[in-house]
Amino acid sequence: MDRTRRDFLSATAAAVTLSTALPAALPTSQPTPAQSNAYAAPTEIKSIDIINLRELEPEAQKLIPAGGFGYISSAAGDEWTKRENEAAFKRITIVPRYLTGYQEADRSTNLLGSTVSMPIIVSAMAAHGLAHVTAEVGSAKGTGEAGALYTAGSLSTNTMEEIALASAGPKWFQIYLPADRAKAREILDRAKAAGYRAIILTIDTAVPSNRETDRRNRFRSPLPLGNFPGENGAYGAAVLKRDLDWDDVEFIEKTTGLPVLLKGVMSPELAVTAVQHGCRGIQVSNHGGRQLDDVAASITVLPRIADAVHGRALIVIDGGIRRGQDVFKALALGANAVAIGRPVLYGLALGGWMGVRRVFEHLDGELEMTMRLAGARTVGEISRRYVTTPPESFAAV
Ligand SMILES: Cc1cc2nc3c(=O)[nH]c(=O)nc-3n(C[C@H](O)[C@H](O)[C@H](O)COP(=O)(O)O)c2cc1C
Repeated sequence: MDRTRRDFLSATAAAVTLSTALPAALPTSQPTPAQSNAYAAPTEIKSIDIINLRELEPEAQKLIPAGGFGYISSAAGDEWTKRENEAAFKRITIVPRYLTGYQEADRSTNLLGSTVSMPIIVSAMAAHGLAHVTAEVGSAKGTGEAGALYTAGSLSTNTMEEIALASAGPKWFQIYLPADRAKAREILDRAKAAGYRAIILTIDTAVPSNRETDRRNRFRSPLPLGNFPGENGAYGAAVLKRDLDWDDVEFIEKTTGLPVLLKGVMSPELAVTAVQHGCRGIQVSNHGGRQLDDVAASITVLPRIADAVHGRALIVIDGGIRRGQDVFKALALGANAVAIGRPVLYGLALGGWMGVRRVFEHLDGELEMTMRLAGARTVGEISRRYVTTPPESFAAV
């Protein structure tokens, strides 16, 4: 299909509005099969060559319909936070240690009881069907094949049960909590029954943000929401709980008995309060710059959050991780693992599950190289003595 026709379809396909990845902008009706079929997502499944993860974006742009690509690649407002997420990593320098007498670099680690081959996981993202017809089934399979941990988003194209079956590896479930407790319980029960081992509550979406690219593209996602069949968009603004508080966190803990992580923590104070309320983990995140623009790069707030948490909870960080060196720096500054967003969808677009597997293998390969060149034998050994940070850009929040 030529680009003009694709653009037209993605701009006009009515139905589910994911313009903010946010249920607030979600739909008043589910798309008809004809509308879903009109979105020409990539279909090819093949291994891909990766030299530099950043080079996947322009390649994926050639394949993903313009509306879907804009939704995936863009961010809020001036997109300063999105750019800063990547830029801030370059202000941290690595201090290698030589003549260590060893050469191995073991990247395996344990995340809340799950052993994984690398400290790199998938960050929760909506609507993988925008990137590839196999959607989350493809991304989960590719992640599992790489031995990494997968996080399924509430607003997935496939159902959480389909996603769980696609990979034998460990999986966590991200929730946008419905205000109705019965509905919330139903979703959480399903996640537990499907085998998800932890629940991630996203906390930085009190209102939809200003995604200007989506508005310019008049983007309305043509895809169904796998987890909410036949709801006619009822999982929209009216039913989503916007006024989240600690009772909600407790509710999730009690309902599931699973470890709960808060996603969107950007201050030491909130991290400490989360620990006090029983959270087993936090995800330091500004939503890839897609929610509140002008907040700090996530890596710049990590060190003080890690100090405050002091080993009492697992720390995951996402935002702008594109290099093995970035993973290394995040681990050195106190993260137990990093989560990656957009590159997963680009790998998916370019090669289906095989493309996603390559994304993980590539980043893991760069991490291995970095560990060996810097002289760190295990993930646990990577500490602050391996990096220097400029004080001015890591100032108090
Ligand atoms: C297309 C897309 C959809 C997303 N949807 C969600 C979501 O449904 N829930 C959520 O908690 N975060 C969502 N995020 C944010 C990611 O989990 C993550 O915080 C961010 O993408 C990480 O930054 P990176 O893309 O620079 O790696 C989404 C991100 C993208 C790119």
